[in-house]
Order: sequence, then structure tokens, then C-alpha cells
Amino acid sequence: MHPSNSRFLAGKTAVVTGGTRGIGRAVAEALLLEGASVAICGRTAYAAAAAAGAMATSTGGEVVGLTADVSKPEEAASLFDEVDRRWGGLDILINNAGIGVFRPAGEIAIEEWQLVIGLNLSGPFYCSRAALPLMEKRGGGYIIQISSLAAKNAFASGAAYNASKFGLNGFSEAMMLDVRYRNIRVSEIMPGSVDTDFSPRSGRADWKIAPADVAQVAIDLLRMPSRTLVSRVEMRPSKPRKA
Ligand SMILES: NC(=O)c1ccc[n+]([C@@H]2O[C@H](COP(=O)([O-])OP(=O)(O)OC[C@H]3O[C@@H](n4cnc5c(N)ncnc54)[C@H](OP(=O)(O)O)[C@@H]3O)[C@@H](O)[C@H]2O)c1
Repeated sequence: MHPSNSRFLAGKTAVVTGGTRGIGRAVAEALLLEGASVAICGRTAYAAAAAAGAMATSTGGEVVGLTADVSKPEEAASLFDEVDRRWGGLDILINNAGIGVFRPAGEIAIEEWQLVIGLNLSGPFYCSRAALPLMEKRGGGYIIQISSLAAKNAFASGAAYNASKFGLNGFSEAMMLDVRYRNIRVSEIMPGSVDTDFSPRSGRADWKIAPADVAQVAIDLLRMPSRTLVSRVEMRPSKPRKA
């Protein structure tokens, strides 16, 4: 991979939660290629360091892999403290880390419900809350939520996941109204099926959205002139597999 000619994010700092694989990793790589310094996180030191090392080699960018379970408020706070110590503030936050549990509503274990809501909804709140003062320090910033089409389309066995992503959009859009006059923009990217390890793989996956396509949308949002905010982006496979 080669750095882009524009490198329009040179001098900017970014956090991507859950950047060890999948969509988060693709977004982190795209940010690095545009010149940003990027911190990714994952739940284990090994996975975070391995992903960061591989991305440093492939992009030539400045990337650090930190350990944080962002469903835990104290670990989320430490992640942003570390970024602030290293880089003196933050310009971009990609709230990406997420998990799916798919079961009929009455069969969801309490622990499963808490896991999904704790990571997909509370995680972005903990991270945004910690990120906002660091962005104000830099005069503004951009928070991008990796939401889902499941934030608007309920489906059977989706109760926990739908609740977390509907909630994420509600949180995100209210926060956007709170921070817009402080030069901080907030958007949600809402993909349909993306080819990652998120769901068990069965058969061909070439009909799905590629993680790099989600990353391209994140870069497009960041490129938008600051007078304009694209607040929601829905994206879906052009030709979904027929059931
Ligand atoms: N794939 C899809 O079809 C699809 C569609 C729409 C939306 N999305 C959303 O896109 C986001 C990323 O999904 P993906 O498909 O890329 O999933 P993935 O391939 O399973 O990757 C999930 C990432 O999140 C990290 N993670 C998991 N739990 C974490 C925690 N508690 N704290 C910090 N990091 C954690 C994982 O890192 P470690 O395992 O190293 O901790 C990994 O880097 C999610 O929010 C998901 O809801 C996915």
C-alpha cells in the first residue's frame, strides 16, 4: 500500500476502537495512508501490537496498538489519556468496536444483553465523552460511529443488536447537536453485510461490502469541507445474495 498523494490528514491524530481486524483495521490503514497518526485498540496486547506492527510496515505511518476493552469506562478513559500524553489531543475518533449476539428476545441471556449494549452503545459514549475535551484542545474534531443498517431495520433475532445500534444513532445525533458549534462533527456510517469475521462465514462472500469500502466512506466524510456535515450514510451490497 502506498501513501496517497494528498495526505490531507498529515498532522492529525486518530483513535480507531477495535482496529485489530475487519472494518476498524481498514479504516485505520486508510487514515494512515492519508498521513494521520493512529492509535488502534483491542482487548489483548498481542492482537493490538501485531495489527499495529503490520500496518506500520504496510503504510509507513505512525501507528500504536493499545490494549483497551472500551465497554469498560475506566479502560476507555485510560486509552484517551495515553493518546493525549503521546500526541497532545485528538482530531478523529472512529467508534468501531462492536459485537453481535443474534437470538430471539426471550432467549437472550442477561450477560449477552449487557455485553452487546455495553460495547455497541455504552462504548461509544465512554469514548466520545473522553475524546471531546481532547478535540476541543485541538480546536475541533470529527467523531464517526460505525453503526449499521440494523440501526433502522429491525429483524428477527436482532433484539439486542438492533437496540444497541438504534440507540447508537440516537446518542450520536443528539451529541451532534450538542457539539456542532464547537467545530466537532459527528456522523454515522450504516453498512449492511461487510466481509469480516463478525458473522460466521459460510460460502462465498464476494457479494458483501469490502471493509475497504467502509474505510473509503470514512475518508470521504473527513474530506467534506467543514461547512457541511453528512450526518448519516447508509451503504449496502449492490447485489445481496438471494436467500
Ligand atoms: N461485518 C458486518 O457485516 C457489519 C455490518 C454493519 C456494521 N458492522 C459494525 O462494524 C463494527 C466492526 O465490525 P467488524 O465486522 O469489523 O467486526 P470484527 O471483524 O469482529 O472486528 C471487531 C473488532 O472489535 C474489537 N473488539 C471487540 N470487542 C472489543 C472490546 N470490548 N473493546 C475493544 N475492542 C473490541 C476486535 O478486537 P479484539 O478481538 O482484538 O479485541 C476487532 O478489532 C461493529 O461495530 C459492527 O457492529 C459490521
